[in-house]
Amino acid sequence: MIVKSIELKNYRNYKNKKINFENELNLIIGSNGVGKTNLVEALYYCSTCKSHRVSTDKTLIYNNENYCDIRLNVEKKGNNHQLRIFLNENGKTLFINNQTISKVSEYIGFLNAILFSPDDLNLFIQTPKVRRKFVDIEIGKLSSHYTFLLNSYYKLLKDRNLYLKSDNVDKTYLKVMTMKMIDYQLLIVDQRKKFINDLLKYANTYFNLMTNDFNEIQCEYLSNFNNSSKETILNYYDKYFEKDIRFKQTILGIHKDDFLFKVDGKNITEHLSQSQKKIVLLCLKLGLINLIYQINKDYPIIILDDLFSDFDEINQEKILQYIPKGVQIFITTCVQNFKKNNDRSFNVIEISK
Ligand SMILES: Nc1ncnc2c1ncn2[C@@H]1O[C@H](COP(=O)(O)OP(=O)(O)O)[C@@H](O)[C@H]1O
Ligand SMILES: [Mg+2]
Repeated sequence: MIVKSIELKNYRNYKNKKINFENELNLIIGSNGVGKTNLVEALYYCSTCKSHRVSTDKTLIYNNENYCDIRLNVEKKGNNHQLRIFLNENGKTLFINNQTISKVSEYIGFLNAILFSPDDLNLFIQTPKVRRKFVDIEIGKLSSHYTFLLNSYYKLLKDRNLYLKSDNVDKTYLKVMTMKMIDYQLLIVDQRKKFINDLLKYANTYFNLMTNDFNEIQCEYLSNFNNSSKETILNYYDKYFEKDIRFKQTILGIHKDDFLFKVDGKNITEHLSQSQKKIVLLCLKLGLINLIYQINKDYPIIILDDLFSDFDEINQEKILQYIPKGVQIFITTCVQNFKKNNDRSFNVIEISK
């Protein structure tokens, strides 16, 4: 996948801007606050339909305007396509080749983008929600069916929680809702497990190349329902029936899952230095590139946001060397003396206020 160009109208600090991109390496240079991250955020937004920085889309609209419009020209497996997201107070409208796409799950992943920003270290530090989001977004980009399962599950969860808030909860009716939820959960757990296994397989090939301090990145999948049958899960829900009613919400379920990343059995947050954590992260992202290629037979685009100002532990050349040739790369930096990588065609995009 190659992004040929982007056109932004009323998006963040861009009133009206068109930028052409190079197929191999794009270096987005500018001082702090000029809009480098905004630019790559727009690319990422067209991949996941979600900003990686804010939870409300409204923030993406240029101050005091009432809409924003992002258009991308992309080349996928030799064919050209137009992606577009139009956003106003009524929400967003998605287009592929001028056709409206009503299901977000069909839009996500058409452009597959892998983003690497210093904030990603939150993956190890923050709450389980952050890790679930990482896993769900990445699987969602590979499988629209997964996004469908997840959305269906969360809709049922919302209904179940609403029902638990009513005055007279009928246990039989609740059981019918629960049974449906379990069906979705079993499929989601399977996909989450498979994703983690596959990702680690690829990530560890890089990890072995990059470090001699450790052997293996691992991930413990913490789920109420790991390896459980439908019958067992239903019994769990039965046991938690009184508690669910007391708390007026569903206590068990894949919405509480967590993914505990470890290295050689050691908790990453507690045992690894900042630079070692960054290497693990980098290996996970590089692993993702390969996993995506394996499934889609097409590379994702890679965004390295502000990585090199904060990532002196591994030098820039080395990182680029690990990214397969053929992957389109976007690097944002305020470092003027960024070393050019010789074997990639190169484009410098200067952003100024
Ligand atoms: N909705 C918006 N309208 C106008 N300007 C915005 C909007 N959202 C963010 N900005 C501006 O974008 C700038 C930050 O851009 P950013 O991409 O984070 O900079 P950097 O180049 O450091 O990565 C800030 O000056 C901020 O005021
Ligand atoms: Mg930035």
